[in-house]
Amino acid sequence: MKRSIAYYVVLSGLLLSLGGCNTMESIGHTTAGKSLYERLGGKPAITAVVDDFVGRVAADPRINGRFATTDIPRLKTLLVEQICQASGGPCNYTGRSMKATHAGMGVSNADFDALVGDLLATLNKFKVPEREKNELLSALGPMKGDIVERPMASMR
Ligand code: HEM
Repeated sequence: MKRSIAYYVVLSGLLLSLGGCNTMESIGHTTAGKSLYERLGGKPAITAVVDDFVGRVAADPRINGRFATTDIPRLKTLLVEQICQASGGPCNYTGRSMKATHAGMGVSNADFDALVGDLLATLNKFKVPEREKNELLSALGPMKGDIVERPMASMR
């Protein structure tokens, strides 16, 4: 489905950009010629993905305690900015780096995996194909190093 692929693309853009990956430009402009932002359908589509994903995280008892004092609307805004910018849209990400943002949180592998699970739930909701989901997981690598501080911890 066209819409499902678009949703996959925006999420993969998010993950790669947050990971500090420099391949965003090549991902943002495929052989189709259109920017990622255009193919996504602009801000409405990006906002829908972020809403679903953040909503799942906020309702996830494994990790939602982390966000007890977080301004969720602000978090959503920053994620939309980040995706929009990374996909070639007319936005500037005004948030902090992934390393600075998550410094001192003591995020574990289990926390990270829980969040990825929520992301996969969003992808499943939008019927993203298996291949794309696997590619998305592969893109998590660079980000993980900046976010996880306790890789050996099974519980936080
Ligand atoms: C794919 C992985 C992740 C991405 C893309 C991501 C992205 C972000 C972004 C963009 C922000 C806002 C930055 C800012 O405030 O300037 C943020 C904040 C935050 N992240 Fe993550 N994050 C990820 C993983 C995690 C994990 C695994 C946890 C812990 C379970 C976590 C906990 C938090 C918390 C608690 C905040 C809010 C900090 C505050 O209130 O000041 N993040 N994240």
